[in-house]
Amino acid sequence: MSVLLVEDDPSIAIVITAALEAEGFDVVHCVSIAERDRQLGERRFSALVTDVILTDGDGIATIDRVRAADPELPIIILSAQNTLDTAVRATDTGAFEYFPKPFDIDELARTVRQAVGNAGSRLGEEGEAAPAGLPLVGRSAPMQAVYRMITRVLRNDLTVLVLGESGTGKELVAEAIHQLGHRKAGPFVAVNTAAIPAELIESELFGHEKGAFTGAVARHIGKFEQANGGTLFLDEIGDMPMQAQTRLLRALQSGSIRRVGGREEIKVDVRIIAATNRDLEPMIAAGNFREDLYYRLNVVPITLPPLRERADDIPALARHFLSLAAQEGLPRRRLSDAAAALLARQPWRGNVRELRNFIYRLALLAREDTIDADALAALLEANLRREEAAGEGGLDLAVLAWLASERPAPGTVYDTALAAFERPLFEAVLRDTGGNQLRAAQVLGINRNTLRKRLTELEISPVELSR
Ligand SMILES: Nc1ncnc2c1ncn2[C@@H]1O[C@H](COP(=O)(O)OP(=O)(O)OP(=O)(O)O)[C@@H](O)[C@H]1O
Ligand SMILES: [Mg+2]
Repeated sequence: MSVLLVEDDPSIAIVITAALEAEGFDVVHCVSIAERDRQLGERRFSALVTDVILTDGDGIATIDRVRAADPELPIIILSAQNTLDTAVRATDTGAFEYFPKPFDIDELARTVRQAVGNAGSRLGEEGEAAPAGLPLVGRSAPMQAVYRMITRVLRNDLTVLVLGESGTGKELVAEAIHQLGHRKAGPFVAVNTAAIPAELIESELFGHEKGAFTGAVARHIGKFEQANGGTLFLDEIGDMPMQAQTRLLRALQSGSIRRVGGREEIKVDVRIIAATNRDLEPMIAAGNFREDLYYRLNVVPITLPPLRERADDIPALARHFLSLAAQEGLPRRRLSDAAAALLARQPWRGNVRELRNFIYRLALLAREDTIDADALAALLEANLRREEAAGEGGLDLAVLAWLASERPAPGTVYDTALAAFERPLFEAVLRDTGGNQLRAAQVLGINRNTLRKRLTELEISPVELSR
């Protein structure tokens, strides 16, 4: 059994040849597309292992010629262009397997053995053109694993659960799966389950009939029905209230929904992608997330690594965002290599989103077109101060944490939040003034009667605070 290896990097060719020979294959090595075609015209091979970018062409773009010579030949693609685009193009050719570089040589040898063993089975379908302008940037090893998972779900309707910290790109992955997948002609409908008041979730998801509840003045088509034939993206699934979880589970099990107040079971054909930045397992243990729903959703988990675990991607991401910023009308800037390296050493706790926001500010605030390490250091410093002012332990986060834990009822959020904010403020100032309301009002800069009224409403007793 012989394998045709098309690889123009001699050091890689040597190790692959050795590994394949150890597996009992003869290896014919060539370095160009022309030579490849000549070999294929002369004899039959058991498998083709090919690089993508070769001196005289592209191993994927010219794959039709390989197919013409031998339609059944298993093809294994190696690539240093580790973009999602290459992964998808490779899968679209119907290649048996795609290996981003650097890869594990033993795994490659095993795969060739397997490919020869079940020649005929293919990863994807044939003949589809690869879409251009893919949204995900980054070629680090952890992102390669993500791309591979994405390519595995494009030709089927398996439910995908996208996990990862906030700002790691979960929504982008969901969109990519839809855009690249076989449902791309259908709608992509996103629902943020955390943003909808608990009592409206069911109506949002499943729709309602006219008169189903007070305020239901007309029939409403829910997200499930809107997504029919396409993809339904259930974002922030970890924040979904229990009752809605139960109804969602029923819809997923039966493949049909019933509008609120409706009788009819309506069949829906949707691909579900769910996402959350929460750790669902402890939530299941605490009884806040249904275990059976978890298993329904977690068919194919795709976990996005935090940016700090793929610092290699930071320069590429930063340049990508600089060019997006320029397209959106901000000044066009460049990053020096030293500046890019400095960016890669920052912690980026808010992940890609934080990097993106910072880069946009950078484009706006930088004084020179080329941002060097010194200019960047100054802006990073300012960013840090800004973060400290607003950030950890600061008011912004406190408000967000308060909202997440209190979940005030819709229609009461502002008043409840204001009361929650005023109470510690008034109490602190009254303590400072020994319970003296007149002085407290002066310190606060508000009218004495306003303060008195609010203290009554909040049931704060100045006398108790005077002690
Ligand atoms: N790999 C990537 N390449 C290019 N842009 C990215 C990448 N990952 C994330 N982004 C961008 O970063 C921002 C945050 O991504 P996204 O909204 O998908 O995060 P998320 O994981 O859904 O966060 P959250 O949990 O807070 O909802 C978006 O502007 C997105 O376009
Ligand atoms: Mg999101």
